[in-house]
Amino acid sequence: MEKVGWKRQWVFLVGWFGIVVQMLLLTECSVKTPVRIPRNINSQELMSSPPVQLHVLDQHVIMDNGLVNVTLSTPQGMVTGIQYDGIDNLLEEQNKERNRGYWDVVWSSTRQPNDSYDLLEGTDFRVIMEEEYQIELSFTKTWNSSLNNTTIPLNVDKRFIMLRGSPGFYSYAIFERLEGWPDLSIYQGRIAFKLQEQLFNYMAVSDERQRIMPTAQDRKNGQVLDFPEAVLLTNPANPALQGEVDDKYQYSCDDKDNQVHGWIGSSNPPVGFWMITPSDEFRTGGPVKQDLTSHVGPTTLSMFFSTHYAGGSLGIKFENEEPWKKVFGPVLVYLNSASVDDDPLKLWEDAKEQMLIETQNWPYNFPLSEDYPFSYQRGEVTGRLLIRDRYIREEFMTANSAYVGLAPPGDVGSWQRENKGYQFWTRTDAEGYFLIKGVRSGNYSLYAWVPGIVGDYKYDKSVIVSPGCNIRLSVLVFDPPRNGPTLWEIGIPDRTAAEFYVPDPNPRLTNQLYVANNAEKFRQYGLWDRYAELYPEQDLSYVVGLSNYETDWFFAHVNRNIGNKTYEPTTWQITFDLQNVIDTGNYTLQLALASAHEANLQVRINDQEAEEPYFSTGFIGKDNAIARHGIHGLYWLFSVDISASLLLSGSNTIFLRQSKGAGPFKGVMYDYIRLEGPPETD
Ligand SMILES: *[C@@H]1O[C@H](CO)[C@@H](O)[C@H](O)[C@H]1NC(C)=O
Ligand SMILES: *[C@@H]1O[C@H](CO)[C@@H](O)[C@H](O)[C@H]1NC(C)=O
Ligand SMILES: *[C@@H]1O[C@H](CO)[C@@H](O)[C@H](O)[C@H]1NC(C)=O
Ligand SMILES: *[C@@H]1O[C@H](CO)[C@@H](O)[C@H](O)[C@H]1NC(C)=O
Ligand SMILES: *[C@@H]1O[C@H](CO)[C@@H](O)[C@H](O)[C@H]1NC(C)=O
Ligand SMILES: *[C@@H]1O[C@H](CO)[C@@H](O)[C@H](O)[C@H]1NC(C)=O
Ligand SMILES: *[C@@H]1O[C@H](CO)[C@@H](O)[C@H](O)[C@H]1NC(C)=O
Ligand SMILES: *[C@@H]1O[C@H](CO)[C@@H](O)[C@H](O)[C@H]1NC(C)=O
Repeated sequence: MEKVGWKRQWVFLVGWFGIVVQMLLLTECSVKTPVRIPRNINSQELMSSPPVQLHVLDQHVIMDNGLVNVTLSTPQGMVTGIQYDGIDNLLEEQNKERNRGYWDVVWSSTRQPNDSYDLLEGTDFRVIMEEEYQIELSFTKTWNSSLNNTTIPLNVDKRFIMLRGSPGFYSYAIFERLEGWPDLSIYQGRIAFKLQEQLFNYMAVSDERQRIMPTAQDRKNGQVLDFPEAVLLTNPANPALQGEVDDKYQYSCDDKDNQVHGWIGSSNPPVGFWMITPSDEFRTGGPVKQDLTSHVGPTTLSMFFSTHYAGGSLGIKFENEEPWKKVFGPVLVYLNSASVDDDPLKLWEDAKEQMLIETQNWPYNFPLSEDYPFSYQRGEVTGRLLIRDRYIREEFMTANSAYVGLAPPGDVGSWQRENKGYQFWTRTDAEGYFLIKGVRSGNYSLYAWVPGIVGDYKYDKSVIVSPGCNIRLSVLVFDPPRNGPTLWEIGIPDRTAAEFYVPDPNPRLTNQLYVANNAEKFRQYGLWDRYAELYPEQDLSYVVGLSNYETDWFFAHVNRNIGNKTYEPTTWQITFDLQNVIDTGNYTLQLALASAHEANLQVRINDQEAEEPYFSTGFIGKDNAIARHGIHGLYWLFSVDISASLLLSGSNTIFLRQSKGAGPFKGVMYDYIRLEGPPETD
């Protein structure tokens, strides 16, 4: 605990007396009556649509609610057909039946060390419910120890639900491992749909990110760039797309914003195919984990977990015969259609409205697996978050728009690598209050971080959530990393490098979407090679007081392209003046990174040639955010003590060297850098 002078204590006591009283009074827990709210099957809207029907055929089963027919293979549970609005199949019929609509995972184990791909095909089919207002189907696959070592040690129960009056269907899955099963790593899990190629050519990921897309054939006809996912369209069927770059990673999205995306078809009238993911609870790595959305194929995905923008630490690893069970989804495939004269973009507006309805209805009251808890079986957590940083303000500050979340117990900041449990995130209001609803019962830690404030918060007690329970936490006070007054700072502590200088792309390698939408130009291909063009001889040099991080700080600390596919390490400099060095304590360099990929960042102070760096991060990161056009990957914070004896009265220089050369994609992105003076006593 830091020592506070009597004056400061007085301010805390008087100014925050009310809060202290709240702390004492508001911790309570009340159990609500456990009543499952039944689905309102009498509502007029529902009764005006036909009942849901199930047709069980030889090798298929069809769910039909008059609005849409969904065909699945039995017992595998692959979606082979979606009949809607007079169109026989929204999925691509040229593809094999197992390559149209499916769940899949990528995995390995010591017994099967190479990455394997598994389509999680069911071996048993069951009808869970067949009523006129709801059908639920189950396709299961079970592992047992007499199976050979090439099969994934995982039980999977894939569920598909159709509701009366609902133009689409839901899917979720329960993954389970029993105690004693062999080790396993799963790197990716998702549900994927391959849409009819002739029909779908317009993709929407957000209001700003939507466009006419190239085709899979355009990519085959194009020229592969630095990695297979990036293709220069040299001969597209639509000549307007000539010369553009296509790369599915250009359409990635933070999970917190990844709730609806999809395609609009060119049929007359136009139809929309949308993937709605109404909750983040089953995803991994917290609200700012990024992942894929939709891309050329036309393909649309709901990614439940992956190593994208994170690396192996987001692979789900089971050792020591660990048991596990987790429910992924439900997600909704939502279909809509416009009338002949309508603007097809109305379909996107309607899909967003449906997304809001789905998120408001979460947790759903209709999935029938006992592993999916209904609303009354879940709890709530409320509280208020304040920030105490006396070098910013004498008084407590409210944590406005802070991210607050529950995740399995772990260290400070561990939520961004957590990948086996459930996470529940929200944001605080302008006064710092938060409400986390629909929490599954369990033992959690409460984590938070605040845009504009460096570091991570963790509540020091466990939060035990039980069914129907509303936990009111006391006022939480976040003491962010801080040793002394700010001497200077570069950037904004918000876990991205977006505020720094993002160059224009090479004009021969653009995606026109991000020319029009300049705000996200970091999604352009090949920006790493712009560094050497901007700094042909000398590396980046930043002068505190003169330079401006928006124009003078390149968004990524990359290697220098010296031609012929050769890349060399670079050393950046920060020059600053100190009027007189105070030797009553250490200075502190707060070094926050928004991304690291196979990097080693070294810090030298006033001696560029020093053989040993003063500080080094060690070999860190595999988030690949430079190659994947992400403006951030995982967050890293290093608080480096700097002895006053190293600093000079007058001009000083900090040298930042990323020492791992040899490739374009190794490097770091800075989030924020701050130099603090020694602690002040009063
Ligand atoms: C679903 O299939 C039935 C039986 O083939 C057919 O009568 C109906 O029109 C189909 N519904 C849709 C929405 O395509
Ligand atoms: C499966 O893996 C185990 C452990 O590596 C090994 O002992 C066993 O022989 C393997 N079985 C088969 C059928 O390959
Ligand atoms: C793993 O892949 C390597 C290289 O493709 C191959 O030589 C090896 O046989 C594979 N091992 C297994 C167990 O499949
Ligand atoms: C385990 O799998 C084998 C091979 O598929 C099967 O013959 C056997 O019945 C299964 N055992 C159990 C207990 O399910
Ligand atoms: C192992 O199991 C898979 C899946 O059941 C099967 O395709 C494969 O032939 C089996 N391999 C051996 C060597 O038994
Ligand atoms: C909750 O988890 C923490 C950390 O693992 C543990 O110390 C504590 O005993 C758990 N509490 C309960 C009630 O299970
Ligand atoms: C470029 O690299 C290749 C392969 O290493 C080498 O053969 C060639 O001479 C190099 N060209 C130049 C201009 O350095
Ligand atoms: C200054 O930093 C050094 C290196 O981390 C540390 O050993 C020392 O205790 C610090 N001194 C003070 C006064 O905090």
